[in-house]
Amino acid sequence: MSQSQFEVALTEVTGLSVGQQGTPLHIHPENHYAEWLSNTGQSTQNWLETSGFSGSGLALIPASDGTVAEAHFFCDTDDVFCCGELPKALPEGDFYCTNDDPRLLEKVALGWWLGRYQYTAFKSQPKACSGHLYIDDPTVVENSRHLAQAVYLTRDLINTPAENLMPQHLGQCVESIARQFSAQCQQWVGEDLLDHNYPTIHAVGRASEHPPRLIELTWGDEQAPPVTLIGKGVCFDSGGLDLKPANGMRNMKKDMGGAAHALALAFLIMAQQLPIRLRLLIPAVENAVAGNAFRPGDVITTRQGTTVEIDNTDAEGRLILCDALAHACADKPELMIDFATLTGAARVALGTELPAMFSSDKTIAQAVCDSGENVGDPVWSMPLHQPYRSLLNSDVADLANCATSPFGGAITAALFLQEFVDDDIPWLHFDVMAWNNRKLAGRPTGGEAMGLRAMFEYLKTRFNDA
Ligand code: BES
Ligand code: ZN
Ligand code: ZN
Repeated sequence: MSQSQFEVALTEVTGLSVGQQGTPLHIHPENHYAEWLSNTGQSTQNWLETSGFSGSGLALIPASDGTVAEAHFFCDTDDVFCCGELPKALPEGDFYCTNDDPRLLEKVALGWWLGRYQYTAFKSQPKACSGHLYIDDPTVVENSRHLAQAVYLTRDLINTPAENLMPQHLGQCVESIARQFSAQCQQWVGEDLLDHNYPTIHAVGRASEHPPRLIELTWGDEQAPPVTLIGKGVCFDSGGLDLKPANGMRNMKKDMGGAAHALALAFLIMAQQLPIRLRLLIPAVENAVAGNAFRPGDVITTRQGTTVEIDNTDAEGRLILCDALAHACADKPELMIDFATLTGAARVALGTELPAMFSSDKTIAQAVCDSGENVGDPVWSMPLHQPYRSLLNSDVADLANCATSPFGGAITAALFLQEFVDDDIPWLHFDVMAWNNRKLAGRPTGGEAMGLRAMFEYLKTRFNDA
């Protein structure tokens, strides 16, 4: 199959329905085990004791004929991923969750779905989780389904090999989601980018067989408060002429993770019909090596007019983002949010599981951190430390695309972006890993959404309850 024919395979969100059928399954806080045990029948007590149940995880209680009469799952119910291991633990069959607290049911549903996720597009014999869960709360199921769909979309896009997810495929994905919600979609491809003054997107992407593009989606009431999302869509980051070493390049299919996050957040906004005027911008490129590649020492005049000297072709994300940010500022959004797998330095600072967030507005930053904590999707606020701005000075242009020293690299990258954001526009920048290096409950290794639910929770609180 050639790349242009490949349709990005999206994983279906299945295995949970609204209803009351199947074996009763009750979720308990772990620390209630002793009390629950003392109140249960003698034969159940004997069974749990003789089978060596530890008081944590899944306990299946047999009926006299040997079938499962009821299931009990003991876990840390404060944790959003408390049921992440449940899909793998439960046997085949239908299970009905007998809890009735909607806040817990939301965790059960989300953990269940996120724990079931597997990227199987290229597996000849995928092994699916076979249990089916029923929850009798349509609102909980609907809201959790949207969140799960958004996380699945993020994971699928990141996990798809670069060969199958080039800028044109990202374009198709945005178009198909736009169609789903009757949103407008527009794209500037290849030379169009030069004709319409997006020089940095073109320069970074021009060495690829797959032309660079800027993808734009707009949706919602024109009178509603404008919010703009931007995502770094580097479909593969070889580093360019400043080629990455093998271990640094290995996972660079994930370098469009920011675009995946921005698209998934747009999906949530549209699916839940938040009262905002939405604009999504995805500069999509492959940072490739060829005779026409941009070079260290080249100078690019950006959309905004600022000239940038290329110090390192591997600092390409900030380049494609700068023209998108300049374009985004033109219609003065009330809030501008970008997601990007921008720097290795952010990972040195915070590790791989905690996204770095930068904001020109401290109140919004605090509120987003609080939202993240509330929904179990932590993000960490980092400083736009202005004294480091001079590290981006260039001898020949207005700005260099990176500092000569790696220290504070996530901050200097964020300061570079800030040069392209008007001072009066509240702006949030997320530097994310977009990848699970290790497996945790509900989070398989591979592509991952990080800070997505935090940001959606913030937008919901701010705009839905306004
Ligand atoms: N895509 C990378 C950043 C990255 C690497 C994110 C690994 C997550 C994990 C980015 O384009 C890059 O290469 N950045 C350079 C910048 C440097 C040349 C100033 C980096 O972080 O080393
Ligand atoms: Zn790079
Ligand atoms: Zn990159």
